[in-house]
Amino acid sequence: MDAKTFYGTEQRNTITYLEFGEIDIVEGEKKIWNFQLHQKAYDWLMLGRYSNDLFNTMKMEELLESGNMQEMINLYNEEIHHEDEASLNLAKLIAVAVTHKIPVLPKPSFYELGQTIFGCIEGMEFYKNLLKCANIKFPDVNLKNVTWYGVDISELFNYLSLVLHQNYNVVTMLTTESLPSKMDVFFAKGISILYAVRTLDQFFATIRKGKLAVFDYSFSLGKEEDTTIGSGKTVRYLNYSDFLNALKKADEVMYVKKSNSKIIKDKNRIWLDCIFGEKSLCEEYIKLDTSVRIALVQRFEGIQNTGKFLNNDISPEWVAVENYHHCNTKDRL
Ligand SMILES: C[S@@+](CC[C@H](N)C(=O)[O-])C[C@H]1O[C@@H](n2cnc3c(N)ncnc32)[C@H](O)[C@@H]1O
Repeated sequence: MDAKTFYGTEQRNTITYLEFGEIDIVEGEKKIWNFQLHQKAYDWLMLGRYSNDLFNTMKMEELLESGNMQEMINLYNEEIHHEDEASLNLAKLIAVAVTHKIPVLPKPSFYELGQTIFGCIEGMEFYKNLLKCANIKFPDVNLKNVTWYGVDISELFNYLSLVLHQNYNVVTMLTTESLPSKMDVFFAKGISILYAVRTLDQFFATIRKGKLAVFDYSFSLGKEEDTTIGSGKTVRYLNYSDFLNALKKADEVMYVKKSNSKIIKDKNRIWLDCIFGEKSLCEEYIKLDTSVRIALVQRFEGIQNTGKFLNNDISPEWVAVENYHHCNTKDRL
């Protein structure tokens, strides 16, 4: 793949770069030892970041098994780069749990757009163990039975996803064309959707790949907006009103977690933590999500600094997306 295909090309005035070197603090001299551009710059940074997450997830697992919960939380706070990582891995596990009983393919299936090195597999295994150790009732799911589909524009990540998960059934590809038409769970970080999706039709086609979709996303409250966000790659924010109108025609429903979702006033955007799918399945998800998160908060009583790990889920509250904007964005839409 052409290294310049995705980075710094759509917006001609941006270049993606990565620089490594030394600074002599006595002489005030800076030496650059390595400098990378375009896709390689992005891949090398993200590979370091996500390998570090994976490594520390394994260390957290060891601390969990030896009963060192406080140390486990401390390590999470120090090392895991996204503060909501644990909460998201729990969300993915819940989605697998509520969809796996009647899989759409012969085996349960999970699809991530922008899977990087598929570190969520270890993250979800970790959470499964945590729930077991905490004696929290949870459906019995075997993640080794799941087929893990990943679509990522990085050949390096697609290859490493396989190498790092040889005990799992992992299938990765550069584009969506050869994906099954439907899988059980769709997951993506909002940023991956912002990178990949250019139209509302593509947005719906993407999230409809899962019987249940779990993701976050930011919409523009004004006009559709193209920009870069520091990685040099162009992102597109779709218009929120257009989305709400299109949703009215959909058979599925979308719920948002109120405590996590917000309006970003200075950017004129709305950020939503969402699930999307058939109503009854979404309701099943919300029921399990609520009971597990409330139980977790109780089990972690007495342990310090759990705010990020538990995502402050003291009383998770879900609302249909159309009701969320009524109470929050009435004067803007
Ligand atoms: C910030 S990382 C993502 C997240 C990670 N899997 C997680 O759970 O945190 C964004 C990922 O999306 C990938 N990506 C960027 N543009 C993409 C596109 N158009 N289609 C598919 N993947 C894309 C990147 O290579 C990278 O692996």
